[in-house]
Order: sequence, then C-alpha cells, then structure tokens
Amino acid sequence: MEKLKQRILEESSVLSNDVLRMDAIINHQVDPALTMEMGQEFANRFREQKITKVITVESSGIPAAFATAYVLSVPLVFARRKKTLIADPDAYCERVPSFTKGMVTDIMVSKQFLSKDDHVLFIDDIIANGDAARGLIKIIERSGAKLAGMGIVVEKSFQAGGRTLREQGINVESLVKIKSLENGEIHFE
Ligand code: G4P
Ligand code: NA
Ligand code: NA
Repeated sequence: MEKLKQRILEESSVLSNDVLRMDAIINHQVDPALTMEMGQEFANRFREQKITKVITVESSGIPAAFATAYVLSVPLVFARRKKTLIADPDAYCERVPSFTKGMVTDIMVSKQFLSKDDHVLFIDDIIANGDAARGLIKIIERSGAKLAGMGIVVEKSFQAGGRTLREQGINVESLVKIKSLENGEIHFE
C-alpha cells in the first residue's frame, strides 16, 4: 500500500534498530480515511473467504480491524488484555509476552463471541515476533473457530513473527513490510 509507506516515511520515527514509533498514525492518533483504506484493502484480499468475524487484540489493532469488519459487514471481536486474570470458565485465556513492554499480559475472549461456526479474519497493527498473535491464534483454535488468515498493517520482516506464522500454514497478508530500521533509516521490502 504505497500511500501507507509515504505516511510512515513522513510521520514515524525510528527509535532503535528494531522499534519504529508510529504514534501519529497507529498508536496514539489515527487517520480515519487512511484507516478505512486499510480496511478496504484487507477486505479485498480476503473477500472470497466467507469471513463471519474479524478479530484483533486491544488496543492498537482495533481501528484497522474495525475498518475491515465494516467493509465486510461482519462483527469485530477484540480480545481484552488483563493485568491479573481471574479464572473464568466462560472465557478463553492465554498468557503472552510483549516485545516492546518487556512483560507478560493475559488476553481473553469470552466464549460468547467465538464459536466453532466462525470463520475469522485476524487483523493486527504491527507484527514483530508474533507472540501476541500466537496467543490469539491459540484462543481461536481452542474455540473451534477456523482462522481464514491474518492481515497485518506493518510487518517488520526482519523479525520472525510473519515468517513463523506463514510456516505454520497461515495466510498472512501485510500492507507494508519493513526489512530494516538500521542506522535510523526505514527500508521497505
Ligand atoms: P508481537 O509479538 O505481537 O509480534 O508483538 P510483540 O509482542 O513483539 O510486541 C508487543 C507490542 O509492541 C504490540 O503492541 C506491538 O504492536 C508493539 N510493537 C512491536 N514492535 C513495534 C514497533 O516497532 N513499533 C511500534 N509502534 N509498536 C511495536 P501491544 O502490546 O499489542 O499494544 P497495543 O499497542 O495494541 O496497545
Ligand atoms: Na501495538
Ligand atoms: Na496490536
């Protein structure tokens, strides 16, 4: 998605060799028109798949996931993050490590919103090592729902997340792939 590459070049900043600050377009402010274009693009790429629900993890995945769900006319489910998880028989829970925050969090989805009849499209904003993604994928598997694929706004392809998920047989579609952030420069694939 060329427009997104431009916006990343203009409005993000390289924090280190592996972290790109994208507060202006993803993590702190969103451009509704640009985000709707992301949703349209994901919807186009997965349109043949008979998606019943879009799913993401709160919080920064929600805008792009919402846009996609809107275009596909299906509900959006977002996994909740909890600091301490009270065991809940009515929810699927997974513990996930976080790359940028350096800690573990628990994510949960109520059994009410995910079932074996669902064919879900997982949308996420950024993929790094894929730990959070793997957590949500485990939840989807345990619910019996089918994973149609994953749509990622920004894949950092120098980290293993996207590649590992593709090796597992998941159809991962990224709008933008960044192959390097070395020397403070953004290089797209
Ligand atoms: P992953 O395993 O899902 O690939 O990601 P990882 O746990 O490595 O990263 C944890 C969090 O850090 C995620 O946000 C992810 O989006 C974010 N992140 C990873 N690399 C970058 C980066 O280069 N730039 C930015 N801006 N974010 C990055 P999260 O914990 O899900 O939090 P939230 O933003 O959704 O609230
Ligand atoms: Na994030
Ligand atoms: Na996210």
